Amino acid sequence: MFQQNASEGRRPTWVEVSLTRLSQNFRALRHYLSPDTRILSVVKADAYGHGSVLVARTLVEAGTDQLGVALAEEGVQLREAGISIPILVFGGCWPGQESLFLRHQLTPVASDMNSLQRLAAAAEAAGTQLAVHLEVDTGMGRLGVSPRDIVPFMEKARQLPSLRWEGLMTHFSCADDSREELTHQQLVRFTEVMRTLEERGLRFDIKHAANSAAILRFPASWFYMVRPGLLLYGYYPQNCAGDPLHVEPILQWKTRVALLKEVPAGVPLGYGGTSITARHSRIATLPVGYHDGLSRALSNQGQVLIRGRQAPLVGTISMDMALVDLTDFPDARAGDEVILLGTSGDFRITAWDHAAIRNTIPYEVLCNIHPRVPRLYV
Ligand SMILES: Cc1ncc(COP(=O)(O)O)c(C=O)c1O
Repeated sequence: MFQQNASEGRRPTWVEVSLTRLSQNFRALRHYLSPDTRILSVVKADAYGHGSVLVARTLVEAGTDQLGVALAEEGVQLREAGISIPILVFGGCWPGQESLFLRHQLTPVASDMNSLQRLAAAAEAAGTQLAVHLEVDTGMGRLGVSPRDIVPFMEKARQLPSLRWEGLMTHFSCADDSREELTHQQLVRFTEVMRTLEERGLRFDIKHAANSAAILRFPASWFYMVRPGLLLYGYYPQNCAGDPLHVEPILQWKTRVALLKEVPAGVPLGYGGTSITARHSRIATLPVGYHDGLSRALSNQGQVLIRGRQAPLVGTISMDMALVDLTDFPDARAGDEVILLGTSGDFRITAWDHAAIRNTIPYEVLCNIHPRVPRLYV
């Protein structure tokens, strides 16, 4: 069994996040947008698995105007780490969280009267005003007030004097879809709602809609502010052809060969014996499994990189271990670095490669890397 000196005391399976590349991706985006378009960087879900505090700090230094999270708890974590720029909470306010929003100056996105009334009461009791963004459901069918209800909703909501209507937003369901007309329809609905509310004297300073795909494909959706997530982490969503703005993945996922065994032909490997050696083989055991986020769907399908070349994952991936066929790597040794996601020599394995095998999207691949895998920042 190989012992790694540099990281004594822990299993040699880790993620490396390049904060330099993150800043570069942010700067590329900044350069691509019109100079007066503000940027809200999406760092929810632990910054898509990259680690929200250091990612957020880097983005603040790089010049992001706001941060976006899903939960108040995620916003509190950033505040406690000393981050002071505006933080928008997409998921709104759950009962009992009102004081968190006030104490930590988090901005809720509102879609329902009940949470607005609770927030308004808490702000009034604290003798203060709370900034709020209103979400319009233009076609996602998830959060947000439907356009047909928006007028009566706002007539009621504007009577809560302790709330300040700072932002109006919507979220696209199909900005990365080949059917562009769906996003155009959402955009039309959003601008109609904007006009209807303005005619009634309701102006929102901050209008925003665009996620990464809309930033790349629908400049008309940039409005006052955009909300990139995936792009900052170095990936294009699907159907975003060309390279109008160059970004690079900021995360590499690595491990080391724990054990290297000579195995005769005809030997079944792993649970269920789903792979049987066709020849005398060299089989490496890696200390990483599906609990870490290396999906079982990659069993006998995925590749890893070692010594600048690709090697196949063989057998069924187990909870904490996986096997790789290194028969064509006579120089490979226990302790060799193995790249699960990242670059080695001329080869690269991306979250898109895993996503294609798993029938999912890179978002899920990145978010699924379990917290027990330490994140190292380079
Ligand atoms: C409300 C909202 N805005 C923006 C984003 C960022 O999306 P993307 O990572 O595709 O840029 C998300 C992420 O899902 C979101 O929920």
